[in-house]
Amino acid sequence: MLNSSGLMPRIAIYPGSFDPPTNGHLDIIERASTLFDTLVVAVGTNSEKSPFMSVNERMAALNESTTHLQNVRIDTFKGLLVKYAQDQGSRVLVRGLRAISDFDYEFRVSMANKNLAPEIETVFLIAKEEYSFIASSVVKEMAQLGADFSKFVPGPVAERMAKILAERPED
Ligand code: PNS
Repeated sequence: MLNSSGLMPRIAIYPGSFDPPTNGHLDIIERASTLFDTLVVAVGTNSEKSPFMSVNERMAALNESTTHLQNVRIDTFKGLLVKYAQDQGSRVLVRGLRAISDFDYEFRVSMANKNLAPEIETVFLIAKEEYSFIASSVVKEMAQLGADFSKFVPGPVAERMAKILAERPED
């Protein structure tokens, strides 16, 4: 079926670890959702990072944080991202770029993905200035060290994080 412009619907994938989802992620989701017919936020599992929230908790928190966005869907994927995008019928990957320090990693991954699937484009959205320093790793560290992290994450994420911390045994 064609979209309102008479074109094939554009599905974009916004992949990430989202552990936890931050206000910076939500800003990228909101902006990308205006550019594509459907935006699939795809929670991947990155073996290099020790998870704070389970994949199910991350997906639930993302669902709760995006109820105002009708064309956003939350999903999860394992394995190669480009294979997942192809399975979803998507040719666009969205990534957020904060500082220049993000560039080296994003450049290497987008080149790898381009080699694996030349038809897929990676589109970068520059983070808004106020979110340019927010990283999941920093929010996680704040939370684990007892600092107030609530202004850096959407409300539903803060609630879930507080619950996880409260249920966690003291070390
Ligand atoms: O939020 P993150 O941690 O930067 O997200 C990284 C993610 C999940 C997008 C990345 O690790 C990924 O794409 N993983 C899937 C494996 C893959 O396809 N790697 C790139 C080519 S080798």
